[in-house]
Amino acid sequence: MSDDPRAAGNRDAHTGPPAGLRRRQLLGGAAIGAGILGAGAGGFGLAARRDGTAEPPPEDAYGTATVPFHGKHQAGILTTGQAHATLLALDLRPGTGRDDLRRMMRLLSQDAARLTQGEVPLADSEPELALVPARLTVTFGFGPGLVDTAGQAPPSWLAALPGFGVDRLDPAYCDGDLLIEVAADDPVTVAHAVRMLLKDARAFTGIRWTQSGFRRARGTEPGGTTMRNLFGQIDGTVNPAPGSEDFDQLVWCREGWLADGTSLVIRRIHMDLEGWDRLDRPGREQSVGRTLGNGAPLTGGNEHDEPDFEALNAQGFTVIPPFAHIRRARSENPRERIVRRSYNYDDPPPAGQISDSGMIFMSCQADVDRQFVPIQRRLDELDLLNQWTTPVGSAVFAVPPGCGADGYIGETLLE
Ligand code: HEM
Repeated sequence: MSDDPRAAGNRDAHTGPPAGLRRRQLLGGAAIGAGILGAGAGGFGLAARRDGTAEPPPEDAYGTATVPFHGKHQAGILTTGQAHATLLALDLRPGTGRDDLRRMMRLLSQDAARLTQGEVPLADSEPELALVPARLTVTFGFGPGLVDTAGQAPPSWLAALPGFGVDRLDPAYCDGDLLIEVAADDPVTVAHAVRMLLKDARAFTGIRWTQSGFRRARGTEPGGTTMRNLFGQIDGTVNPAPGSEDFDQLVWCREGWLADGTSLVIRRIHMDLEGWDRLDRPGREQSVGRTLGNGAPLTGGNEHDEPDFEALNAQGFTVIPPFAHIRRARSENPRERIVRRSYNYDDPPPAGQISDSGMIFMSCQADVDRQFVPIQRRLDELDLLNQWTTPVGSAVFAVPPGCGADGYIGETLLE
């Protein structure tokens, strides 16, 4: 699932040479720095040629793009989805206290701020790898255990989700005290940032689970194209547009230490690609209620046409089946909506099989119990897609607000 295609692409990405390309920060890497500086200086705003046609962007344009780390909200929620993401769920080591949390979150925030701007963090043993930010964002989320350690009562929705009949959860992909979501348009950038941040956190935490996901590489499709999942479906069409009033109302919390923060539900959902192979194209389209070609509702011609749930076919049945995913996922209550921003996963298959694939489903909402849970309940009761999809992991995190240059993520909870 992806960002709303109506949102302007890279709305918060800065372009041009990252501030981090300062030679004094390179441990003897002056030649590399100079090379990148030269190429990056133009950013990727398109200059016009004399004949009025646009100059092609420089080849490293996507590598030098940055998303601000500091601000009212954490980066990575409004950001148009990047090509690669790794999620890390960490557990606090026994004995970790509030002061430790403060130290850890300061350190993590400082290094995340540098990395996202293409600057080299202080103790970076591979500093050259930090020089390609590629729209890197680092987003932190707190599980109930961390909030408890900070001495606060977690919001009522910050807990394991209620059990659903479709769930086949593996504890190896559930829960966690601290979430770090690292996303960028380049996989080397993600791997390096993950390593740096884990080194910062390791005195206080151990890894509970990690998950890596992907979408199409940046530049392979026009900006604003809705992503496709591994069933081949266009996924993310009906999603509030980042920055709109609607988005703000649905996503941002309003009170206490979470004001201007949000919640993140992460569901690892296995997709049975072999079973899906046995379904014909009309069956596939009916299971969701949209066409595979351009994602239009079965009653429309274009991706963003409004579905007509009442329209009947020649036999008198509704064109969009009663148990189609989009009918079951839609609520009559406009408050019961979420913002989806998911990634595909494709892991090595178990012996004798040819795929272990699925979706790292992620949704943001101000209140998990009022927005996510009713939708998941309806899908749990009846959804044609359930035949080919199985939730195998589940976690809920509170995503605190952003911070200023002198602050750190979590300060509203920990100070
Ligand atoms: C692997 C599992 C899933 C697949 C393959 C999937 C696929 C899709 C597809 C293809 C669409 C139609 C295009 C769009 O608007 O994005 C859609 C819509 C939607 N899905 Fe899913 N989905 C999955 C799981 C979920 C889950 C777990 C939820 C929430 C609990 C969810 C909530 C929604 C919502 C709210 C919509 C928009 C419905 C509307 O038109 O109003 N989906 N999904």
